[in-house]
Amino acid sequence: MSSKQVRIGIIGTGGMAHNHAQAFTSMRGARVVGACDVLEDRVSQFAAAYDIPLATTDADELIGHRDLDAVCIVTPDSSHAGLALQAIHEGKHVLCEKPLAVNYKDAARMARSAKREGIVHMVNFSYRRSGALYRARKMIESGALGDIRHVEASYLQSWLVSKAWGDWRTEAQWLWRLSSQHGSRGVLGDIGVHIVDFATFPVGPVKAVNCRLKAFRKAPGNRIGEYKLDANDTAVIQTEFANGALGSITATRWATGHANSLNLSIHGDRGALRISLDDDYNRIEYCTGRSTQTAEWKTAKVRAVPDLYRRFVKGIRTGATAEPDFERGAEVQKVLEACFKSDAEDCWVRV
Ligand SMILES: NC(=O)c1ccc[n+]([C@@H]2O[C@H](COP(=O)([O-])OP(=O)(O)OC[C@H]3O[C@@H](n4cnc5c(N)ncnc54)[C@H](O)[C@@H]3O)[C@@H](O)[C@H]2O)c1
Repeated sequence: MSSKQVRIGIIGTGGMAHNHAQAFTSMRGARVVGACDVLEDRVSQFAAAYDIPLATTDADELIGHRDLDAVCIVTPDSSHAGLALQAIHEGKHVLCEKPLAVNYKDAARMARSAKREGIVHMVNFSYRRSGALYRARKMIESGALGDIRHVEASYLQSWLVSKAWGDWRTEAQWLWRLSSQHGSRGVLGDIGVHIVDFATFPVGPVKAVNCRLKAFRKAPGNRIGEYKLDANDTAVIQTEFANGALGSITATRWATGHANSLNLSIHGDRGALRISLDDDYNRIEYCTGRSTQTAEWKTAKVRAVPDLYRRFVKGIRTGATAEPDFERGAEVQKVLEACFKSDAEDCWVRV
C-alpha cells in the first residue's frame, strides 16, 4: 500500500457533500484539499468547516489542480457526466454521485472513458454499505434459496408530505429534484437508481420491465418560481429478471410514514430472505430448509462491509478493485432507460 495520502477535491458542496467531507476527513490515508461550488458563500463556509485549503467557484481550477489525486462529484445529476469526463481526462480518480448520468449514453461513455484512462472510478450507490446485501448475494449464489421466483424491492420516502428534512416548497435542494428542466429524472433517477442496484446486486440482471411513472400535482399550475414540477415522484416497475424471476421494484416520495426505508424480499423455491435497512444494515432474515414448511423466519447478524468512501481510497492506494464502478452505474442506468421507454410507450421493454 502506498504511504501517500490521497488528496481529494469535492465538487458541489450542498447537502450530500457533507457526508463525503466527514468520511474523508476522519479517514487515515485521505485528505480533502479542495472544494468547489458555483455558490461562493457556500463553498467558503464548507471549506472553513472542514479546514480545506482551496475553495473555488471554478471547477476547471479544481479539476486541473496539480496536487489533487481524486475528485468527488456531488453536484445535481445533469452535471455529473461533463465534470466526470473532464476529471478523467485530467487523470484524476473519480467518485461520482448517483445517478451516474441522466441517460445511458452518457453513463456508458463515462464508463468507457474511465476504463481507457485506467483511473479508479466508483458510483456512490451508498446502500452497498449494507453487509446484509452482500450476505443475500452469497446465499443466492450458494443455492440456499434454490431458483429465485419472486422479488419485492421498495425505496420509500415521504419528504413531499413530511417536513422532517425541510420544506421542499422553499428549498432548492428539493425543488431541483422535482424539475426536468433542472436536470432531474425524478424519483426514478434519484432513489429508483439505488433500489434497482439494491435488488439486482443479489438477484442478477433485469431482462425486461413494465414501468408506470407519475408526477402528482403539487402546487398551483404545478410550478414554484423557476421550477416546473414535472419530474416523476412515484415509480412502479414490474420486473422480469434474467434468471426468470418476476418481481416489483418501487420508489416513491409519497410513502407517508416512511422517512427513508429500503426493503428487499427475495423468494426462491427452496428458501427466502429479507432485508430492511430500517432495522439494521447488517441484519438479514431468512426462511430456509424445514422452516419453509412453517413459514418461520430466523435472524442473523452479519459482518459489516467497508463503506464506499473507504473502498475508493483503498482502491487508489492499493489498486484493489473498487466497486460499484462506472460500468455498474451504466448498467443500472440502462434499466432506468428501459423504464422511461416503457412508461412513455405503455408496454414491456427489454433491457
Ligand atoms: N448517494 C446518496 O445516497 C445520495 C444522497 C443524496 C444526494 N445524492 C446525490 O448527490 C448529488 C447532490 O445532491 P445534494 O442533495 O447534495 O444536492 P444540493 O442541491 O444540496 O447540492 C448540490 C450543490 O452543487 C452545487 N452545484 C450545482 N452545479 C454545480 C457545478 N456545475 N459546479 C459546482 N457546483 C455546482 C450547488 O450550488 C449545490 O451547492 C446529486 O446527484 C444527488 O443525487 C446522493
